[in-house]
Amino acid sequence: MDAFRAANRAKWDELVQPHLTSGFCSVDALREGHRRLDPIVERELGDVAGLSVLHFQCHFGLDTLTLAQQGARVTGLDFSARAIGAARSLAAETGLNGTFIEGDLYAAHDLVDGTFDLVFTTWGTICWLPDIAGWAMIAARFLKPGGRLYFADCHPMAYIWDDAAGACNPAAGRYGTKYPYFHSAEPLALDDAGDYASDHVTEQVRTYEWVHPIGDIVTAVAAAGLRFEFLHEHPWITWALLPSLVPHGEHLFGWPDGTNPELPLSLSFQARRPG
Ligand SMILES: C[S@@+](CC[C@H](N)C(=O)[O-])C[C@H]1O[C@@H](n2cnc3c(N)ncnc32)[C@H](O)[C@@H]1O
Repeated sequence: MDAFRAANRAKWDELVQPHLTSGFCSVDALREGHRRLDPIVERELGDVAGLSVLHFQCHFGLDTLTLAQQGARVTGLDFSARAIGAARSLAAETGLNGTFIEGDLYAAHDLVDGTFDLVFTTWGTICWLPDIAGWAMIAARFLKPGGRLYFADCHPMAYIWDDAAGACNPAAGRYGTKYPYFHSAEPLALDDAGDYASDHVTEQVRTYEWVHPIGDIVTAVAAAGLRFEFLHEHPWITWALLPSLVPHGEHLFGWPDGTNPELPLSLSFQARRPG
């Protein structure tokens, strides 16, 4: 497991610098005081002013500090030392309050104090985690009675498509698949020197990722004692997951015109710890 984690961390360490200057991430909007969360999360999350928020896998704190700008008291956790260093610098530069903790998600109980109104985790998180049941138990453990877990990410169904150019383009009748839908303890070894948010080419090419189908996610959250309030499936996602996706308004990508049927690209849910 340590070798998988070390490879993944090396990739994420490398991506921090390019993301700080990438237009995709819009750090300047945070500096200027008008950055917003993506439209899916913004619509579903509601007012966070006054809430205590624990952000799992916070990267360099961009969404964390956006929540702080909206009045939340925020704590971010990430295992990338460079990401946490950049988050602390960004907090200092913008004058926003945030506590940023370097560490593995599965060690959170040793690193993070207290309980929170909201555990927030979005876009590109659980694919890096081998144990979805353990993840859900950790999220539940950090919730106050009545607190909620908010989650948004790639739909597990959307991970199955072949991401080579032209391989999957339902608008043209091509449905190429490449990856499994069901979980396996052994991770997928993926080779990609690219970056979804910049044209940076990474030295760390290989990463290790795990698939978690919907049944496993929902069962894990329910088994951790949380009660679902909604689970939404969307034909949009916040990055160009496949070459055939096209911009859909600001900050979202969807299937091209003529795609029928449109299949889900992302998933979001909210589940609450009983009060
Ligand atoms: C796609 S990024 C998440 C970005 C996030 N949506 C945000 O707020 O900007 C994935 C993050 O997960 C972190 N990560 C991956 N595996 C982890 C682990 N086992 N423990 C803690 N952080 C981890 C990476 O360092 C990276 O910052």
